Amino acid sequence: MSSFKIFFLFVLCIFSGECDVLYRQAGDEISLQCDSPSHGDIDWEFNSILLITFVAKRGTQRKGTSNEVAHIHSKANANGGTLKIPRLETRDSGVYSCRQSGKQYTVRVGSVFAKPAITRLGTEAELHCSITGEPQTKVQWLSPNGLPYSKINQVISLKPVTSEYDGHWTCQIKDLKMNVRLTVVDLQTNDVEVPEGGDIVLPCSLSNSAFNPRVVGGKWQADHLPSVSFPTLENTYDKGLHWKGQNSSKVKFTSGKLGTNFDIHLIKVQRSYAGEYVCTVEFEDGTNLTAVATLKFVAGPSGGGQIVTKVKGPWTKDVLGVQLWVWIAVGVSSVVLIGLIILTALVQRRNKQMKRRVRKLRSMRQPLTAKDYCQCNRSERNMELGKVMRPVPVPRQQRNAYNSPKPYN
Ligand SMILES: *[C@@H]1O[C@H](CO)[C@@H](O)[C@H](O)[C@H]1NC(C)=O
Repeated sequence: MSSFKIFFLFVLCIFSGECDVLYRQAGDEISLQCDSPSHGDIDWEFNSILLITFVAKRGTQRKGTSNEVAHIHSKANANGGTLKIPRLETRDSGVYSCRQSGKQYTVRVGSVFAKPAITRLGTEAELHCSITGEPQTKVQWLSPNGLPYSKINQVISLKPVTSEYDGHWTCQIKDLKMNVRLTVVDLQTNDVEVPEGGDIVLPCSLSNSAFNPRVVGGKWQADHLPSVSFPTLENTYDKGLHWKGQNSSKVKFTSGKLGTNFDIHLIKVQRSYAGEYVCTVEFEDGTNLTAVATLKFVAGPSGGGQIVTKVKGPWTKDVLGVQLWVWIAVGVSSVVLIGLIILTALVQRRNKQMKRRVRKLRSMRQPLTAKDYCQCNRSERNMELGKVMRPVPVPRQQRNAYNSPKPYN
């Protein structure tokens, strides 16, 4: 601090009486000035306990003897009228005073943290901005988008946590600004459906965050399949994050470096595979996230979910790049179509013939008059004769020649 600044603070002290409260963040260093007019020894006290003395004649310092201040004087440094305390801790909060000038400083050490630092989307998180010795003092929070947050308590609760909360939060008190990072992540999966004997992807991935936290472990687990071995996550210096384990005839996974995707493949799924599969991811700070995917069976080859390859029966065999059943479907519909066309042609032809016949008949027929009817009783006679006499067909024109309706023969 420049002497001008100290002077300025001193003036402010006179008028307001509160400028001697200094806010610092844990880990910071503070430098205090005694402002003594004399050039003799300088004694510094912490909460009225002798902390350290600067011996002017020899230019050395002498530490206080009280155990209560040992944690401070072990790192404190008094030189001339200046007291420096590095690496502040919350227990270093208190009143520092210079005996010679009577100058007092109230030092407040603040700390800020998010609990939990890695929070699952939709759950709850707390942001703590604690000022040692002043639990009631209001603070100003700035959200990751830089806007002031509505609550001004030292502890704020965020519920439910949204992706907008992901980022750096600032707790501000007087001239002290402290930042804390809140990481909002989600581990996502979804239920899958598969036909018997099919292959399927068990999905599991981390949603993106402004800072993807370091994954140090994890696994896939299915309690109903004790005989199937699933891979575990391992993060090593040389290989990075990767699956530890061997591909088997039932489970397959990549051997490459992993990012935020932890999908694995189940091969030739059997009925006994139906059930819950748990994906777990563990972060550096010990936070664990789990996601549960349920595997169900579907009857046919058509199902939802994330089916990669379906049952490869004879119907699904590829022929010239198209599945066999497609060819069969095309063939059957062609035959049906051709049949329909032939049928239509035949019907049309028959209709035409019928029309022609009707027209011919109409042109032959003359309007009938009363004399055209022949009254015959041949059927009675035939019955009497006991034999059927077939009448000789007589052309209509000729029949018209008969004037009287006489029986034949
Ligand atoms: C598992 O098999 C796939 C191919 O089916 C291969 O790409 C992958 O590297 C194998 N993984 C391991 C861990 O050997």
